[in-house]
Amino acid sequence: MSFPNRRLRRLRKNKSIRDLVQETRLSPKDLICPVFVQEDLKKPIPVETMPGFERLPLEVINNEIDSIINLGIPAVMLFGIPKSKDDLGSSAFDENGIVQQAIKVIRKSYGDKIAIIADVCLCQYTSKGHCGLVTDHTIDNDSSIETLAKIATTQAKAGVDVVSPSAMMDGQVIAIRQGLDDAGFSDVAIMSHSAKHRSSFYSPFRDAAECAPKFGDRKTYQVPYSNAREAMREVEMDVNEGVDIVMIKPALAYLDLIAETKKRFNVPVSAYSVSGEYSLVKAASQKGWVQENEIISEILYSIKRAGADMIVTYFAKSAAKFLQEEK
Ligand code: PBG
Repeated sequence: MSFPNRRLRRLRKNKSIRDLVQETRLSPKDLICPVFVQEDLKKPIPVETMPGFERLPLEVINNEIDSIINLGIPAVMLFGIPKSKDDLGSSAFDENGIVQQAIKVIRKSYGDKIAIIADVCLCQYTSKGHCGLVTDHTIDNDSSIETLAKIATTQAKAGVDVVSPSAMMDGQVIAIRQGLDDAGFSDVAIMSHSAKHRSSFYSPFRDAAECAPKFGDRKTYQVPYSNAREAMREVEMDVNEGVDIVMIKPALAYLDLIAETKKRFNVPVSAYSVSGEYSLVKAASQKGWVQENEIISEILYSIKRAGADMIVTYFAKSAAKFLQEEK
């Protein structure tokens, strides 16, 4: 008696059989590439905590978009670093703010060859560095969601396809939906950072985007990593508020929540493999302790296998490169 599992393992020597029985597939088309654009910058500057990743001036943004499109990646997620911050986060909803300008430039040059997703948050734009507006050292949820809706509307006016609120304010999806619809942008979709956890995996990003909180932490609005049901409640709220795409963030340490979200809800699921996930791999591979591309592949496959329909990752370009070569 010969056994099917043994036979399959032997047959896998043949690439065609390997292809047939492969259960999860990963393609550049699954990836979303984050792009950080900084106002008044002369030339790209490397982010020290994220080797190989740079903040870009508006002037060179199209070079970056060119290479992203050529690699077959369908979308970018734009983050802005403004030159001025104030208590209201005014530069976030300025029609000529850095992200709004970047959206216009990309839209004008590439039409619909690439999907433009823009981050909607306040932490880079306010002097306090919190994701919401602050009164008396507390986050004021209700004025924050009004401001988030204003940000989304100016991005929509600039030509964005999808707005992506990452502030974790209650009611942010419905406020943004209403703001967009009232302004005539009912075709702009919302990808909410639905279950965004209070995570130490974000620290390299805070260096990259200059958005560390000036007092306290984000514990009062981000989900504790010990709580899975609470995370599902956050996703459920967003679904009830009319979100188009939900997100679980970070990705790698939260695969159970990606799988659960996929099982419970009939909406597209995105996963954000965050800065710390990138930096850990980069640091170890620079030391020669792990094989970089193999580790990236394994991580991204596991996120897909868990159920993510799309992955925001700082490895988007390098992964797209090796995926194209594998073909
Ligand atoms: C805040 C925001 C953060 C990230 C995306 N948007 C950081 C935070 O909440 O402190 C993290 C992304 C990453 O680490 O790659 N609006």
